[in-house]
Amino acid sequence: MEEFSLSGKSILVTGASSGIGRKAAVLISRAGGLVFITGRNAKRLDETFQQLHHPMEALRNMSIVADLTNESEMDTLIDHLPTLHGIVHCAGIVGPLPAKFITQADINRMFGVNYHVPVNLTGKLLRKKLLADGASILFMSSIATKNPYFGGALYSGSKAALEAYSKTLALELVSKGIRSNCILAGLVDTPMIEHISEKNMQEEALNRYLKRYPLGIGRPEDVANTILFFLSDASKWITGTSLIMGGE
Ligand SMILES: NC(=O)c1ccc[n+]([C@@H]2O[C@H](COP(=O)([O-])OP(=O)(O)OC[C@H]3O[C@@H](n4cnc5c(N)ncnc54)[C@H](OP(=O)(O)O)[C@@H]3O)[C@@H](O)[C@H]2O)c1
Repeated sequence: MEEFSLSGKSILVTGASSGIGRKAAVLISRAGGLVFITGRNAKRLDETFQQLHHPMEALRNMSIVADLTNESEMDTLIDHLPTLHGIVHCAGIVGPLPAKFITQADINRMFGVNYHVPVNLTGKLLRKKLLADGASILFMSSIATKNPYFGGALYSGSKAALEAYSKTLALELVSKGIRSNCILAGLVDTPMIEHISEKNMQEEALNRYLKRYPLGIGRPEDVANTILFFLSDASKWITGTSLIMGGE
């Protein structure tokens, strides 16, 4: 089905050195898209690059190492990009911290990666006219914005802010047919959730936590397949949404 193909589309994936971003990059390339991947860890980013399908065209997949909280590294990344048909903002961090211990430094760190990076990167790409009409922008939020968890105030706050940004962006870009959507994923089995395990949690607490996910814990491909749909023309009538995946 042609509407689901990503053939001829150039897509930027941040956070592609791990987890959901890695799987999204691999599946986008298999669906015919050209992928521009970025992450901080050069070795793991290269592992993702090796898994991509590399087509014969002159313009090929590209891998660019960057810490996106560093403005000049973000600018260098942008210098390598062609006109894009999609952005998948997967770079993100988590870090449980009870509200009474939150300091300004913690706020800066969490919002720096989870909010400032996608907002700043999107703005720069728009000002440089690097987004094609009809492009699709995806932000990774979390079900935690709907269902609070102990120690999640900063993480949930940064993701809720991102959702609000995405909805406003959808409104502002609708005249160009550029779409903006959020995925609110439940628990997905990636390096990000390593702290949630039998090793680190008491069995009863772990079981109670897992009950919040009636379909079980997600796999990176569960989210990546949805990302593919949002990037494709099959979803061209959807913008300004926040899709909940996997949780109650
Ligand atoms: N896993 C879940 O249960 C879950 C649920 C809901 C939403 N999400 C969201 O989905 C997204 C992907 O999560 P994941 O589980 O795939 O996480 P992950 O495996 O920990 O990957 C996070 C990615 O973000 C990159 N990153 C972090 N800080 C960065 C920075 N300063 N500059 C550039 N890149 C940076 C990491 O790069 P390096 O590794 O190279 O440093 C890595 O590629 C995140 O936004 C997360 O909040 C995850």
